[in-house]
Amino acid sequence: MLVICEMLGIPEEDRDRFVHGERITGRVIDPTPMAPEELAEANTGSENSAAYFNALLDRRRKAPKDDLLSALVAAETEEGKLTGAELVANVSLLFAAGHETTVNLLGNGLKALWQHRPCLDALRADLSLLPAAVEEMLRFDSSVQLTGRRALEDFTFQGHDIKEGDNVITLLGAANHDGETFPDPAQFRLDRKAPRALSFGGGIHYCLGAQLSRIEGEEALRALFERLPKLELDHSVLEAPEQKPTITLRGLGALPAHWA
Ligand code: HEM
Repeated sequence: MLVICEMLGIPEEDRDRFVHGERITGRVIDPTPMAPEELAEANTGSENSAAYFNALLDRRRKAPKDDLLSALVAAETEEGKLTGAELVANVSLLFAAGHETTVNLLGNGLKALWQHRPCLDALRADLSLLPAAVEEMLRFDSSVQLTGRRALEDFTFQGHDIKEGDNVITLLGAANHDGETFPDPAQFRLDRKAPRALSFGGGIHYCLGAQLSRIEGEEALRALFERLPKLELDHSVLEAPEQKPTITLRGLGALPAHWA
């Protein structure tokens, strides 16, 4: 969360509300209906964050700084590329898309490492394996399980007729376990070669933060292993992991651990 605050230029005194405060729930992007109280809570959350961003963007309109918010404001005012509403929507999206996804990458990834002890041992012994480990974490237990598209024209896919205007759900997590592309898919391995998994989607909407979250993942794991060499996850994580209730964003509700 602090990385996104730093990138955008959120004033330090305001950051606590993002780090510890309310967050837009991942339920808004689940393909299942939300209960009225969940919707009300989500609406209040978006209204509050839109009000905060509107006020902050106003400050940048009056006195620009050397930050991404000011650059976005310039795209709105000078270049006319973004409306005010689009500006707030994009800033809010960066917070919503860029936080829980990476948190879940770390939680799911650590759980996978502890389920595959030889990989954990190899990684701890040689941290130059970190990029391969993060790539495999993204594939093995994808923190974003699905994305969607609307068909622009009629077509047939593997015997299924899709009509123009139909919504299509693409199951990234399942594609990442396609045995024809990833041999032995249920096995966590540090020696997989291309192709990369589909964890960040594809085409024009390919994840804007893909490279950032790879770097965040590598750096967070490096710090964790260097600073807590005796880190151990509790058995409960492997035996009965506490999953978050969301479907699209897959992650752990808790990751109990101990260290000497
Ligand atoms: C492990 C971490 C992450 C995963 C697994 C992930 C995954 C995804 C996926 C699957 C999509 C949809 C792509 C599609 O439909 O083809 C997406 C879109 C997006 N992501 Fe990420 N993401 C991650 C981190 C981030 C971060 C750190 C940021 C921002 C700082 C970010 C910003 C975005 C944005 C803005 C979009 C929308 C792009 C568009 O519609 O053009 N994501 N992400």
